[in-house]
Amino acid sequence: MIKNKNEESNILVVGLSGSLREGSYTSMAVKIALEAAQEAGVQTDFIDLNKYSLVFCDGRREESTYPEDVFKLKRKVSSAQGIILGTPEYHGGLSGVLKNAVDLMGFDEFEGKMIGLIGVSGGSMGAANALISLRNIGRALHAWIIPEQVSIGEAWKLFDETGEIKDNKLNQRVKEVGRQVARFAYLHTSEQTKEFLSAWEGAPKNPGG
Ligand SMILES: Cc1cc2nc3c(=O)[nH]c(=O)nc-3n(C[C@H](O)[C@H](O)[C@H](O)COP(=O)(O)O)c2cc1C
Repeated sequence: MIKNKNEESNILVVGLSGSLREGSYTSMAVKIALEAAQEAGVQTDFIDLNKYSLVFCDGRREESTYPEDVFKLKRKVSSAQGIILGTPEYHGGLSGVLKNAVDLMGFDEFEGKMIGLIGVSGGSMGAANALISLRNIGRALHAWIIPEQVSIGEAWKLFDETGEIKDNKLNQRVKEVGRQVARFAYLHTSEQTKEFLSAWEGAPKNPGG
């Protein structure tokens, strides 16, 4: 437990789901992980990308011309110390929705942050490809991607109507991603870690990609 229940934590963990589908299992799983993070003592916020009018990232030089919702998203993610990224496996990779949202952001939102990963698939092979890609993306953004991750294969079998996971072991694994992001985000705020982080963030920008 990071704080006792009467203390307000100043650590924020946000969750993003790469599925906009109503009844998305990815969104359900991200919310379960966020609940566990909250139980561990941090503040949490599920960022519902359905509520943001985003555009495709086109690499424009003048980013200020992007719509306001792009900046709303950037502000929200910037304010977090931990981020849970959930994605469905789409054609052997992460969803375009999540990749585009990440592409609209960058180092300002991700560098030095704790990231937890959750992948969901319809097939029995799980979401390993999407998770591997996300881990690479996190590295490119100089984020700390925690080792614990979850791949939820055949998701359609595993959730009940209320959005809970029926299998206790899997449920605990999803929760553990949330707890670990919360714990490590908290640890990153300790004095020694702040000193280390400022040296890390003072390293040359994007050294070697
Ligand atoms: C465009 C698209 C591509 C998909 N590709 C795969 C795939 O490669 N492997 C797989 O197991 N399931 C695949 N699926 C199934 C999804 O992973 C599955 O429906 C999942 O539950 C979607 O996540 P959601 O419930 O959060 O919307 C695909 C679904 C869509 C719509």
